[in-house]
Amino acid sequence: MEKHKWGIIGTGAIARKFAEALSGTETAECYAAASRTLEKAKAFASEYGFRKAYGSYRELTEDPDVDIIYIATPMASHFEDSLLCISKGKNVLCEKSVTLNSRQFEQILEEVRKHDVFFMEAMWMKCRPTYRKVKEWIDSGRIGEVRFIKADFFNHVPYNAESRLYKADCGGGAMLDLGVYPITMAADILGGIPDETVSAAVIGKDGVDINNTTLLKYAGASVSLDSGFQLQCRNNALISGTDGYITMGDWFHCTCEAYLYNRESTLLESAVIPDEINGYEYEIREVHRCLENGEKESPLVPHDETLAVMRIMDECRKQWGLVYPREE
Ligand SMILES: NC(=O)c1ccc[n+]([C@@H]2O[C@H](COP(=O)([O-])OP(=O)(O)OC[C@H]3O[C@@H](n4cnc5c(N)ncnc54)[C@H](OP(=O)(O)O)[C@@H]3O)[C@@H](O)[C@H]2O)c1
Repeated sequence: MEKHKWGIIGTGAIARKFAEALSGTETAECYAAASRTLEKAKAFASEYGFRKAYGSYRELTEDPDVDIIYIATPMASHFEDSLLCISKGKNVLCEKSVTLNSRQFEQILEEVRKHDVFFMEAMWMKCRPTYRKVKEWIDSGRIGEVRFIKADFFNHVPYNAESRLYKADCGGGAMLDLGVYPITMAADILGGIPDETVSAAVIGKDGVDINNTTLLKYAGASVSLDSGFQLQCRNNALISGTDGYITMGDWFHCTCEAYLYNRESTLLESAVIPDEINGYEYEIREVHRCLENGEKESPLVPHDETLAVMRIMDECRKQWGLVYPREE
């Protein structure tokens, strides 16, 4: 079987983890890596066994042999990087948060339709077997009607003014980097846009949110979500329904363990599913499955849900008064 030839744009921290998963995936070929400097591209390519190295993102998009491009640049670059790839007819897997705001994502979707390419936000959480098991429990009614979700995602990152997390012009801040996971979980389980959104954030001296708290109200269900990167918390998720509840342990978005309980807190079932490589293999396989079936959108990470999440985050930032330089 022919392998899918992957190109990677941006050679930072997550690109490295992704390349590890790619190298261990039989149906993937580590084909080309692009960086803003040729030197970095060459070093990355040789470390992970990519055949080609490009000193600009554009050159990689112009390589006719690239089947699918993984965009691993900071949030504020996703919009222009995606448009560049799509304009060259390339399929795209773009890191989260997919854009700075919903307007940008709507524009991307227009181009996706025009050029008839595959596009997916790299929401790896939703492709992982543990999360899919949780969804299966919910969809088959094991906890009854979902009435409450509580999830937090914190990651203590020592202050560094040069980090993309702290830079407003990179689309920094906790919401777009971390909060996107609990919001995605809520939108996935309860169905897109809530009836009400109330959000508050602590904005740091660099002008981005260093932690935030968001409450969402859906018909019959309430949600409480927190994220931040100057503290450490447990990073758990709890999904509670009329007949029981589910817990996802530390780092809920990438956990290999989830537990199903009844209303009396008796453990009914556990899902303990260790990663085969490092957890990114599942989104890679999902992309391959879509490409092989000619699907332009993954049912695991559908466009309308990514759009709903972006709209929720727009509303939160509107309430805080946070506008990024590159969206003005
Ligand atoms: N799925 C996950 O688990 C996960 C985890 C972490 C991050 N992410 C996402 O992945 C993306 C990248 O995060 P990261 O942690 O890998 O960031 P990072 O280490 O800072 O790397 C980002 C890369 O993007 C390129 N880049 C292009 N324009 C840039 C600019 N103006 N400033 C800095 N770098 C720029 C650089 O590559 P070149 O110099 O080679 O061009 C840089 O190495 C973000 O969207 C983030 O949300 C996902």
